[in-house]
Amino acid sequence: MMLDFKKVPENDFELLYHTLLDAIPSSVLMIDKSLNVISVNRNFLLKSQRNKADTVGRPLAQVFPSVILENTGLENRIRTVFQSNLPINAQKMTYRAPGVPIRIYYYSILPIQKNQVMLLMEDVTEQMRLSEEVRRVERHLASVVESASDIVLSTDIQGRILTWNSAAEKLSGLTAHEAHGQFFFDFCSAHQKQSMRLIFKQIMSSNDPHTAEFDLLTPNNGNGILISWVFSPMKDDYSQTVGAVVVGRDLAERRKLELQLRQSQKLTALGVMAGGIAHEIRNPLAVCSSAAQFLLDDNITADFHKECSKKIQTNLQKASDIIKNLLRFSRSSLDDTDMVEVDLSNVLKETLELMTNQASVQKIRIEFSLQNEHILVMGISGLLQQVFMNIFLNAIHAMPEGGVLSITVDTVEGQIIVRVADTGTGIPAGELDKIFDPFHTSSPAGHGTGLGLSICYSIVRQHLGSIRAESSYGEGATIIVTLPYHYS
Ligand SMILES: Nc1ncnc2c1ncn2[C@@H]1O[C@H](COP(=O)(O)OP(=O)(O)OP(=O)(O)O)[C@@H](O)[C@H]1O
Ligand SMILES: [Mg+2]
Repeated sequence: MMLDFKKVPENDFELLYHTLLDAIPSSVLMIDKSLNVISVNRNFLLKSQRNKADTVGRPLAQVFPSVILENTGLENRIRTVFQSNLPINAQKMTYRAPGVPIRIYYYSILPIQKNQVMLLMEDVTEQMRLSEEVRRVERHLASVVESASDIVLSTDIQGRILTWNSAAEKLSGLTAHEAHGQFFFDFCSAHQKQSMRLIFKQIMSSNDPHTAEFDLLTPNNGNGILISWVFSPMKDDYSQTVGAVVVGRDLAERRKLELQLRQSQKLTALGVMAGGIAHEIRNPLAVCSSAAQFLLDDNITADFHKECSKKIQTNLQKASDIIKNLLRFSRSSLDDTDMVEVDLSNVLKETLELMTNQASVQKIRIEFSLQNEHILVMGISGLLQQVFMNIFLNAIHAMPEGGVLSITVDTVEGQIIVRVADTGTGIPAGELDKIFDPFHTSSPAGHGTGLGLSICYSIVRQHLGSIRAESSYGEGATIIVTLPYHYS
């Protein structure tokens, strides 16, 4: 309900005036032209630890400590207001009452009547303390961001850069001033810009961070620097997205180490392979060489001549097969255009048919269970057949006394899982991770090349799948091939 001042009697009006003055959270003093205090409100008495009797009717010089009067020039200012009849606003004053910690006030001097001014003092100690605390936290956060070795930047909702830390300055060669206001996507190469924009759009409507690798284009590096980015939505107090915080790590160092590692792995593999090739090709070549020596002898019989020629032919074929396999092994990827839709169940059935004869000779029972009739993969059926042929042959070799070869095919979450289990010798635990290495073999010299499983590994990888082995030595082995299901 609003108060109608016209209806309030004179005495009540004064009472109301004092009640109001006492209720406000600021200190109020009325001062006359001789700089005596005419009246004060309760707040001033409380803050200054004084009572009414030793304040009202006293000169200002007795009410305020002399240091304050000197520092603020309060008396002169009050005189000025009396002369000019104009208020003085928002001046700072530090006030210390006996036994009470220092407080900070903003004061105003307002002309009220010809012979009265009002000194209004607002205690801002708590506000100052809080804003100093906020500034301290801000300074702390800023120094954390500034001293980070990763790029830390923030953008508005459209992707315009708001802040850009010193790691960003150092990596990009752009100062925070130069980067400010530019679109973040403009630091990406033309072909990445669109995907970066899409990610940005996603972040703006989600609560979760997003990770991606993009090049950062810089004035001094036209090719860009590869950076791993983490984008997070920036929320305000009402959980509204107001922009993004983007943290980026320079991958150059990691790439360099990876490259070095790959290089050294390549060299090791090359060493292993060179040894293997030498070993494997030397045998057929030695046979060819001695057969050729016999051929040079004019006295050999026609039959022996024929036999030597045959030996040369078969051994050259052997050497050529090894080289052919090695070349296939060295191919790291298949051309997409070579890949067609292949029904894996047909591949498995056809390959098993080639095995039935040898299996029955060795008293091996074949069990084949298919979950679905048609299992589609993208690939090259000849190569897939080679994979399973190698795996089946290994299993058959591992069961010289007979046993069971079981093949099961399952489809789980878009993956086809083929398990080829045998009841043969099994693989010693220490060898499980070696059987896919080129030239690793337990076959006697001149039999297995030890390339079978390494070729399988390479072909399966080319088909974007994986291959692994499980075994307990003496209890058979299982080779597990996983390939991505192709939904036609
Ligand atoms: N099912 C299995 N049971 C037991 N050991 C196996 C089985 N499959 C593979 N191995 C082991 O892994 C080794 C490597 O197999 P891989 O097929 O690469 O070469 P290989 O069969 O010896 O020779 P290649 O296949 O080149 O004629 C084998 O020599 C054998 O010791
Ligand atoms: Mg083999």
